[in-house]
Amino acid sequence: MEGNLIIENTRIVTPLGSEAVKGPGMGKLYEIENGCIIIEKGRIIYSGPMKDRPTDQDFSKFKILDACGNVALPGFVDSHTHVMFGGFRPDEFEWRLKGDSYMSIMERGGGIQSTVNATKNATDYHLVNKTDWFLRKMSEMGVTTVEAKSGYGLDSVTELRLLNLLDYLNRHDDMFLDIVLTFMGAHAVPPEYAGRTADFVDELIKILPEAKKVATFCDVFCEKNVFEIEDSRRLLQEAKKAGFKLKLHADEIVTLGGAELSAELGAVSADHLLHVSDNGIKRMAEEGVVATLLPLTAFALKEPFAPARKFIEAGCAVALATDLNPGSCFSGSIPLTIALACIYMNMSIEETITALTLNGAAALDMAQEIGSLEKGKRGDVILLGSDNYRVLPYYVGMNCVKTTIFKGVIVCQNN
Ligand code: NIG
Ligand code: FE
Repeated sequence: MEGNLIIENTRIVTPLGSEAVKGPGMGKLYEIENGCIIIEKGRIIYSGPMKDRPTDQDFSKFKILDACGNVALPGFVDSHTHVMFGGFRPDEFEWRLKGDSYMSIMERGGGIQSTVNATKNATDYHLVNKTDWFLRKMSEMGVTTVEAKSGYGLDSVTELRLLNLLDYLNRHDDMFLDIVLTFMGAHAVPPEYAGRTADFVDELIKILPEAKKVATFCDVFCEKNVFEIEDSRRLLQEAKKAGFKLKLHADEIVTLGGAELSAELGAVSADHLLHVSDNGIKRMAEEGVVATLLPLTAFALKEPFAPARKFIEAGCAVALATDLNPGSCFSGSIPLTIALACIYMNMSIEETITALTLNGAAALDMAQEIGSLEKGKRGDVILLGSDNYRVLPYYVGMNCVKTTIFKGVIVCQNN
C-alpha cells in the first residue's frame, strides 16, 4: 500500500536529518508556514514552500489534500511497546493503589507471569485481533511506526509464536503502520526456572537464530532479582553475535547499572531509566545510546520521572515512547505522553516532538528512513486539527491529530 499524495497549504513542522538529534539541538524544529509535501509511491519527493514546489512533473494522478493551514508533523514513532498479550490485570492496578509495589506483586507470581498464563491460553485469532485494535488506536493518535516486543511467552514455542503473529500482522496488505519486532524472551524468569536464571538464559540463547528470522531487536528486563547485569550481558552478547540490535529495560525499578551496560554493549537504546546513575548518563552520552523515556509508566507506577533534562544536558538523544503493556502501564496515549514530558520532565514542546519523531526513529535505528519530513523519507505524515503545534501538550491528554498518513495513504481521519 503506497500512495501518491500532495498535501497543500500546510504548516510543515519537523526536525531535520537522518540521525538522532542529541542534546539541546532537540529543541530546534524547522518550520515552513505555507508548505507543500509531495509523496510519490509512498516516499516524500518534495517538502518545502508551496511557491517552490516542482511543476516539471505530471501530478494529475496524485490525490490532493488541502490542509487549510494546519500543521504537518512526521508520523509519530512509538519505539517501546508490549502490545501483544492475553488478558488484563486491573486487579493488580487496584492493589498498587492500595500500596502494593510492582515488584512485590511480581515476586508473588502475579505481574508478567499472570499475563504469560493468559497469553498461553489465548488463541492466535484473539491475540491478532486484540493487537490490531490497539494498533488502530495508536494510528488515530498519529503513530506510523511502532515497536512491539514478545515477552509474554517465556518458553520457546510461545515466544516464537508471538513474534510470528506480529510478523503476520505487519505483512498484512492493509497494514496502516509499520511494526518493528523485538525478541524479549528475557522479560521474567518463569516459575519452572526459579533460582536457575542462567539455565533460562541458555534456553533463550538457543532460540536466538529462529527469533532473528523476524525480529530486529533483542531486549532484556535488566533488573534486580530478574535478569541482573551478568545474565543480561551474556544474553545480549549472544544476541549481538546472532545479528540482533540491542535494547535494554534499564534502571527501571532500582539503580543497577543497566545504562552503563547499554553503553558497554553498543545498544541502540536503553529504556525507562527512572533510577539511572550520573555515570550511566555519561556513558550513554559517550557511546551515543538513545535514552528512551516512558513517562506514562512512571506516572502509572507513581515513581519519579526519568531525568530528561540531565540526559539532554549531557548530550544524549532522548526519545519518548508509551510502553503500552497490561501491567506497569496500561496506556498507549501519545497525547498524555507529550503532556507529562512537558509538565513533569520539563521538556520543551519542540523537544517532545523531536523525541517522538526523529529520535524515536533513531531508537529503532531507522532515522535514515523515517522521523522527519524530508525528501527521500517514507511518506509518513500527520496533520493536526490546528495551525499551532503547541496545542499538543496544552490540550492535555486529548488527541489533536486529525489525519494520519502512512506511506502516502490516508489511513485515519478523525472528525
Ligand atoms: O516495561 N518491566 C518490564 N516490562 C514492562 C512491564 C510488563 C508487565 O508488567 O506486564 C515495563 O514496565
Ligand atoms: Fe517496557
